[in-house]
Amino acid sequence: MLEDRYGRRFHYLRLSITDVCNFRCDYCLPDGYQCDTERDFLQLDEIDTLVQAFAGLGTSKIRLTGGEPSLRRDLPEIIDRCATTPGIDKIAITTNGYRLPEMVEDWANAGLTSLNVSMDSLDPRQFNAITGHNKLDTILAGLDKALALGLKVKVNAVLLKPYSDEQLNSFLLWLKKMPVTLRFIELMQTGDNQAYFKTNHVSGAPVKRQLLEQGWVQVLRDKAAGPAQEFSHPDYAGRIGLIMPYSKDFCATCNRLRVSALGKLHLCLFAEQGLDLRPLIQTGDVPALQQRLVALLGHKEASHWLDEGVTGATRHLAMLGG
Ligand code: GTP
Ligand code: 5AD
Ligand code: SF4
Repeated sequence: MLEDRYGRRFHYLRLSITDVCNFRCDYCLPDGYQCDTERDFLQLDEIDTLVQAFAGLGTSKIRLTGGEPSLRRDLPEIIDRCATTPGIDKIAITTNGYRLPEMVEDWANAGLTSLNVSMDSLDPRQFNAITGHNKLDTILAGLDKALALGLKVKVNAVLLKPYSDEQLNSFLLWLKKMPVTLRFIELMQTGDNQAYFKTNHVSGAPVKRQLLEQGWVQVLRDKAAGPAQEFSHPDYAGRIGLIMPYSKDFCATCNRLRVSALGKLHLCLFAEQGLDLRPLIQTGDVPALQQRLVALLGHKEASHWLDEGVTGATRHLAMLGG
């Protein structure tokens, strides 16, 4: 079992498989992805070795992230390799949703268990303004398909000051019938979005107040479930989650480690440059890799100090999958 010096346990790996993305969300990659050279992302066999090492140390959940993970053609094989690794019982993916309708069935057949999809607004004009494209209908159709396949679905909406009232009202209406968990995420400051952050960040606290006033009840979650708060209401098919990294003690329930698409271990979303595991991954020596992971975890800090404006080496979240 991977445990740090603050008693936090890590059964959850967020594995980025590419940092390339085809969207240009204002808060993340407003100018689109800038790429000079073909990057040498982790190959299938390297992913296999890494996942075996983590699974042997008690990891049971893998979330595949990006950039946009569906830009990798071998995504179904990657899912399959994770699913067939002993010890791994949850395989999730975080996607912008643009390939959902055509691909989600293949992902489910390969062993995917849950899906998080980014969708910041239900209004096509606002959606366009935020993400730089008009794929809202495709994403909505993909969500229906994912639900029909029995996948557990979460939808992510980054709370943005100009839209926040409308985001809450329109998503509430939608959740009456949609059996998904909608998570409002507080905008996080990164190296590249400083000016955008200043004008668009808004706290999730008023949303929480409104939900409680309207009869939503906070769901008691297991300590191992991670830092999101969750709410339910008897009149709604869906749930609401709040991810408020600027709130006190957010990091106390951190349950996750990250590996970038280039094979670097990140102990926090906003930490250091990344600790290079790749040479060891390439030897295929699982016990040696496990020994290194245990040693590196000793350096995990208590918090990311995001509320003090610390962004670490993180220029945008596409770099290491959020
Ligand atoms: P699940 O609990 O597995 O559903 O994961 P999640 O909600 O963390 O996954 P997702 O990839 O959908 O991320 C949603 C948002 O939470 C993104 O904006 C992430 O950057 C943010 N997030 C996830 N983990 C952390 C974390 O450890 N610290 C901070 N500050 N934000 C995080
Ligand atoms: N702050 C908060 N959330 C962000 N995301 C990307 N960048 C940021 C940011 N700066 C969200 C995306 C996606 C999830 C993985 O991270 O909208 O849903
Ligand atoms: Fe792409 Fe996600 Fe960043 Fe949007 S938030 S640009 S979909 S990586």
